[in-house]
Amino acid sequence: MRSRSSVCWFRTRLLGMSAALILGAFSLPNEAVYAEDILSKGYKLYQQNCAGCHSGGVSEAPLKSALKRLTVNHIFSALDKGIMAGQAGHLTKDERALIASFLGVKPTVAKADSYYCGDVRDASRKMISANTKSWGFGLSNERMLRDTNIGEENVGTLTLDWIFAFPNATRVRSQPTVVGSTIYIGSADASIKAIDLERGCVEWEFSVAAEVRSAISADLDDAGNAAHLYFGDIDGNIYGFDIASQQLLWKREADPHPAATMTGSMVLHGDKVFVPVSSLEIVLAANPKYECCVFRGSIIAVDKNTGKTIWQTFTTEKPELQGLNTVGAKRYGPSGAPIWSSPTIDTKRGFLYVGTGENYSRPTSDTSDAIMAMSLETGEIQWINQVTLDDAWNGSCGRKKGANCPENPGPDFDFGAPPILTVGKDGKDIILAGQKSGRVYAFDPENGGKMLWQKQVGRGGIMGGVHWGMATDRERLYVPISDVSAYKRDAHKPAKSGLHAVDIITGDPLWSTLTDDNCSDEKWNCSPALSAAATVVPGVVFAGGLDGMLRAFSADTGAVLWEFNARQDFGTVNGIEAFGGSFDSDGPVIVGDRLLVTPGYDKWGLAPGNVLLSFKLKSTAVPVSKEK
Ligand code: HEC
Repeated sequence: MRSRSSVCWFRTRLLGMSAALILGAFSLPNEAVYAEDILSKGYKLYQQNCAGCHSGGVSEAPLKSALKRLTVNHIFSALDKGIMAGQAGHLTKDERALIASFLGVKPTVAKADSYYCGDVRDASRKMISANTKSWGFGLSNERMLRDTNIGEENVGTLTLDWIFAFPNATRVRSQPTVVGSTIYIGSADASIKAIDLERGCVEWEFSVAAEVRSAISADLDDAGNAAHLYFGDIDGNIYGFDIASQQLLWKREADPHPAATMTGSMVLHGDKVFVPVSSLEIVLAANPKYECCVFRGSIIAVDKNTGKTIWQTFTTEKPELQGLNTVGAKRYGPSGAPIWSSPTIDTKRGFLYVGTGENYSRPTSDTSDAIMAMSLETGEIQWINQVTLDDAWNGSCGRKKGANCPENPGPDFDFGAPPILTVGKDGKDIILAGQKSGRVYAFDPENGGKMLWQKQVGRGGIMGGVHWGMATDRERLYVPISDVSAYKRDAHKPAKSGLHAVDIITGDPLWSTLTDDNCSDEKWNCSPALSAAATVVPGVVFAGGLDGMLRAFSADTGAVLWEFNARQDFGTVNGIEAFGGSFDSDGPVIVGDRLLVTPGYDKWGLAPGNVLLSFKLKSTAVPVSKEK
């Protein structure tokens, strides 16, 4: 079973730049004739239209050096119909093609034989049944994995076992999902892939419409094998996929807003798939003429067999016309309160919990920067606990305030990480949530989400404070703190980049380990910040940094037990040049005696990468003693 992704790559000798596009398909201008044009005109067009944001002006935008690792096709389609269409709307197709050709590289064509497994797997191979079939390792998003041989005593023997390089990728954001001895993972080359856990080769791959950056949720059959996969792409499409037939069960748009995107991973429960909807409208808002803003965050409950909507609950009221901005474009609000992370399912109460982001425009709502509870059955909102009031912010609120920046813009204090539902030693359920402000909160699910405690753990910043995910072993909460790019009003406070542990019942600090700075001579926005989600196994917490450092911390003391610098070139594997970069967004996955990570993230000026790394214990014979 194998289906290779087919990238159309037309190459035609053209008579003039106006013919650079044939029948709507993009083709590269003939290099011999146009190399000079590409260099001079492409460069000029880039300087005029892109450099303002991509040479450091907008911190979320990938740096030029990262764009230069993308393929020409990828850049062209971002400009033509993707997330940069708003920035390139005034350019002709030819001009877009020139910029793409100036910046991009040719696509990787030759996958080595070793890329594919090619043979039938040994059926007697031991199956691993860890709880790794969804992003949060279970419905409660605790990010704790118990089914592993890796512990405090032997973590130091972890050794790089195999490297898988993704084709045409400068980032890997889809957290590996493992069922049996197969890894299911989304890829920047608009595909999902099944990769052999032991060997790191591709069992099969399946092309979809756009990059899949969320984790894949697997539905198992009665025998415990993965049967169906559920996932979303960056263009906002969601899919149900049948592994046996290698066909889609269904595919649909999650939400009709053109900038809707799938960032958080979908969660499967019963016959429903719960879909968190976020958007890239904050990027569109940077254009003064854009009518800002009309996207609303939502959760969609979808029938897992048909893909049909059972309910959709929006986080804000319908936006209405509010007047005009300073260049005469219409202003709409309320808007925003996107949901960036995987919903948390509370089967006991029949609720799901989500964290929301900021409003994009005024008026603000009481649902932004909040934890919300909804009924699993009907989607009806049960309670809302908003922690930051009046936070209206969008991508036009950069160094120079654009026409769409709301008056008195808020601090952009999203909940990017999902709430965690856990239980303390006292037997009481607790909801724990960490915010980009660097604050961590506990709420009482028995009492309408009443706040139990709150603690300032980090300073906060554009990429958190807490950015993508915390972990708990039901005793301590492990809080990765980024603290990169502080908000103006907090800039005088020291950054607390590192891993911090607090008591889940009281919020009292237990230990703090600030991460060392390994960033000398870096051309990237390198920092020791921990922005990606953390993962805990008994006795050990794993977390990766924006500097590409992967560390194992002692759960008891915070001591660093093991580390690996993933920010390096790994040479050519499976026919593709392999390079690692920043850890961001998704977190480590630990199964049996293996640790899987995906260093590489090109946005925010971070270090790009295209690899899935698999580490293995050198010796599993070391006993994992648990006599604490
Ligand atoms: C107003 C600021 C701004 C301008 C102008 C701009 N960009 Fe971007 N660009 C961004 C931001 C922000 C992102 C990251 C968006 C995201 O992924 O959320 C981005 C992302 C991209 C990406 C990555 C797409 C992907 O798949 O991740 C490409 C390629 C790109 N821009 C190319 C361009 C080019 C070429 C131009 C000039 C024609 C341009 N951009 C103009 C802000 C800008």
